[in-house]
Amino acid sequence: MSSQSPTSAQAPLSFKRMGIVGTGAMGRGIAQIAAEAGLEVKLYDQNPDATEAAIDFVAGLWEKKVSKNKLTENDQTRLLASLIPGSDLADLADCDVIVEAIVEKVEVKQRLFVELENLISENAILATNTSSLSVTDIASGCARPEQIIGFHFFNPVPLMKIVEVIPGVKTAPAVVERMTQLGQQLGHFTALTTDTPGFLVNHAGRAFGTEALRILTEGTASCADIDRIMTDQGGFKMGPFTLMDLTGLDVSSAVMESIYHQYYQEPRYRPAQLIQTRVSAGLLGRKTKAGFYEYRDGQQIMPEEQPVERTAPCPVWISPEDEASHAVLTELVESANWPLASSADEPNALCLVTPWGEDIAGCALRQGLPPARTLGIDMLAGLEKRRSIMTSPATETDFIKAALTLFSEDGTAVTRLKDSQGFVLQRIIACIVNIGCDIAQQGIAKPDTINRAVELGLGYPKGPLALGDHYGPARILEILNNLQSTSGDPRYRPSPWLRRRALLGLPLTAEEL
Ligand code: NAI
Repeated sequence: MSSQSPTSAQAPLSFKRMGIVGTGAMGRGIAQIAAEAGLEVKLYDQNPDATEAAIDFVAGLWEKKVSKNKLTENDQTRLLASLIPGSDLADLADCDVIVEAIVEKVEVKQRLFVELENLISENAILATNTSSLSVTDIASGCARPEQIIGFHFFNPVPLMKIVEVIPGVKTAPAVVERMTQLGQQLGHFTALTTDTPGFLVNHAGRAFGTEALRILTEGTASCADIDRIMTDQGGFKMGPFTLMDLTGLDVSSAVMESIYHQYYQEPRYRPAQLIQTRVSAGLLGRKTKAGFYEYRDGQQIMPEEQPVERTAPCPVWISPEDEASHAVLTELVESANWPLASSADEPNALCLVTPWGEDIAGCALRQGLPPARTLGIDMLAGLEKRRSIMTSPATETDFIKAALTLFSEDGTAVTRLKDSQGFVLQRIIACIVNIGCDIAQQGIAKPDTINRAVELGLGYPKGPLALGDHYGPARILEILNNLQSTSGDPRYRPSPWLRRRALLGLPLTAEEL
């Protein structure tokens, strides 16, 4: 059957009967993939209508598959028969694994787990789909915490092919092994992670939104500019503000606050106040038709790009400090037929710098350049799809116009940023890599798992360690060191995992033996 996972055909199923408690958005998805993998699934919800609604929902999906010839009628009948509604929690007593997907409240989950362990057999496993509570905490009132584990899926379950397997402090190794096997049999990548705030994926996702919010707060760029840079230059499917609007600002803000406080106000996870103000105003994103953007007929209203007021060519001087950038920019200036200046002192020369994690004011003064004529360009991702130029408060209008004209001469989009340490892309990428490195440093997951889980769970073009290796660990370290010294903010202090590997010239995926 096409909907079965490939592994389920190879190995015998590790469980026969799965119970699901809570049949809302997550419970129904888990029920669907468990049935498709060949398990019998018993469903219970305190609201009987919810159980019925879940079965109807999944049945509707299978009906669609039949109409598209993706499922035979025989398989459909068998699948439907494998979903069994329960009217009482006790109906789940003969399950060998139960996955809980009820309301996200620790006391309610604790009570449920005590009730469940008194119903089931000694060897049966209890799993929680919690996204933000401690698995150890949920198991703390139980007599057999060794049989309890986190099994964290993502929404929508059938499409998000990843499940985090989270042992609590007392979970038995055999339980971890069986649940890892089950996750694979359900056709998902199983990411083994520790019972820490946000587990792996939600922890790794802390930089994208929070750093974008800081950039917005500092007045460096607009939401649309930041989103365009992250999609065009960073290769992300969606910019951070579009993503927060989609997730809901209330949900995004709650996750930011929760992880920040659970890590005792760790500055790397510090949210910006700006999102909470929008939540208070009821601007929750797509679902309220307004968040960071407005929505009309379901369509995001994206502000126009900044227009370029073209000027005549002027001499261009390029800082030789970064050799590779100097070569690329020289070629660009030559192919645009603009004259190259041999010295920054040449009157009316536009001076270009290519800083890493430094602001333009500081970079111009450090290199002894005239601030009025100096601008920076972000060279982290090359000049292909979009260019980000940055000015200092002293940069004069004529030179801003000249730079915008030069960099858009070949039709490539240009974004102008106000002065910031590290442009937009450098800041967000460096923070993503740094948090990924610290996840590795804390042993929350193995480097390969961190990369794959982030690709699948967050849809990033690469996992955080792979992103760091792509841009170069030494480069990321340089950006972070400069971000930290320019801003004075410990948020940017490099993770020891990154620092050591960058200094030793090792890839970020390298583990210590
Ligand atoms: P939901 O609100 O769609 O469904 C929860 C269901 O649980 C409801 O049908 C409700 O009637 C039932 N319920 C509540 N208390 C109950 C109890 N004591 N006994 C039996 N049934 C009870 O919620 P959703 O979104 O499915 O979330 C469920 C769990 O999954 C939460 O722990 C959540 O944090 C987690 N989660 C949610 C994700 C999401 O994107 N929605 C993603 C990953 C995890």
